[in-house]
Order: sequence, then C-alpha cells, then structure tokens
Amino acid sequence: MIYAVIAVILSYLLGSVSFSIVIARLVKGIDIREHGSGNAGATNTIRVLGKGPGLLCFVLDFGKGIAAVWIGHWLGQDDWTSAICGLAAIMGHNWPIYFNFKGGKGIATTIGAICALAFVPALVAGVVTIIVIAITRYVSLGSLIFAALTPVLIAIFYYSAPVLTVSLILCLFAFWRHRSNIVKLLQGTENKLGAKKGS
Ligand code: G3P
Repeated sequence: MIYAVIAVILSYLLGSVSFSIVIARLVKGIDIREHGSGNAGATNTIRVLGKGPGLLCFVLDFGKGIAAVWIGHWLGQDDWTSAICGLAAIMGHNWPIYFNFKGGKGIATTIGAICALAFVPALVAGVVTIIVIAITRYVSLGSLIFAALTPVLIAIFYYSAPVLTVSLILCLFAFWRHRSNIVKLLQGTENKLGAKKGS
C-alpha cells in the first residue's frame, strides 16, 4: 500500500512539471499563461512560440502520462494504482504544485496516460481526433472528442474497471477545463490552429 501511495505522489509531482511554462521561460523568458489563450499547454505553445517548441511540449507532456502509468505499474503492481497514477499526473498538469496550481487542460498528458492504459482505444480515438483537427483546425474540438470517445471505446473493448473509471474522470476533467473553449466553439469564435491571434 505504501508503494502505491508513493507512486501516486510521484506521479502528481511529475505531472506538475508543466513543460509549456518551462519551455516558454527558457526560450522567450515569458509566462505562457499571460499570452495567447493563456493556457499552459502544447497548443498555446505552438500559438505563442511556434511549432518546434509546441511539439516538444506535446511530446514531453505526453511522456509524463506514460511515465506516471509505468511508475504505478512498477510500484503498485495492480491496475488501480497504474490508472490512479495516470490520473494524478493529469491533476499535476492541471493544478501544478510548482506553478501556483495554475496549469493546463491536460490533454497531451491524458493521451499519454490512456495510451499506456488502453492502447487500442487511444489509437482509434487518436486517429479520429487527428482527422477532426485536420478538417476543422479546432484543437479543442479534437481534444474533447478524444476525451469523450476513450471511455466509450474502453467499455467496448472490455478494459478493467480502474481503466474505465479513470477514463470517465479524465473525460469530466477535459470538459471542465475546456468550458471556455466550448462556449467559443458554440459562438464560432474559437481559435483555429495556425491563426496567430490569442483568445
Ligand atoms: O489541449 C488544449 C487545447 O485543446 C486547447 O488549447 O490554448 O486553444 O485553449 P487552447
């Protein structure tokens, strides 16, 4: 039990390393949360700093999700610990202890965690997400579709209760963190990928 608790704490601390904040500080000496959409995430890093730093941010935030699930697997040796460690990393990303609890929307880290927990559902949802983003240029819409689709696919593919439970919680987190994006999508004022102006 103690190892499972340590794994969850480590995952939260790892998730709290907000790479968009770190990269923006290193590259341009700015707080990414004061620019573009104000979100500490890969999409806003692309918007503010360009494709290279943005993609690096995506890969590192994605890697946090995978690493947290592995930490849970190694230390906890059961599905609940692995799944809760993935959740803890996303909580760290969204509410980071090192950055006044003001983080991002957790999608890259969610994709990483779901890839490690349920690869086939993540792959199918990921392909749909890429197609939606390519057609609409709305990353937020693609993110919401990924979050909504994964619990459905996880249920269809009969993954374990911990994986399904955590994917449902991650879906709720994603919709909550994207509530301003949802309003803008409905109003037709959401930022499109490639558009320079922040919201
Ligand atoms: O994952 C974040 C993305 O879905 C939206 O980011 O900066 O456009 O609010 P942003």
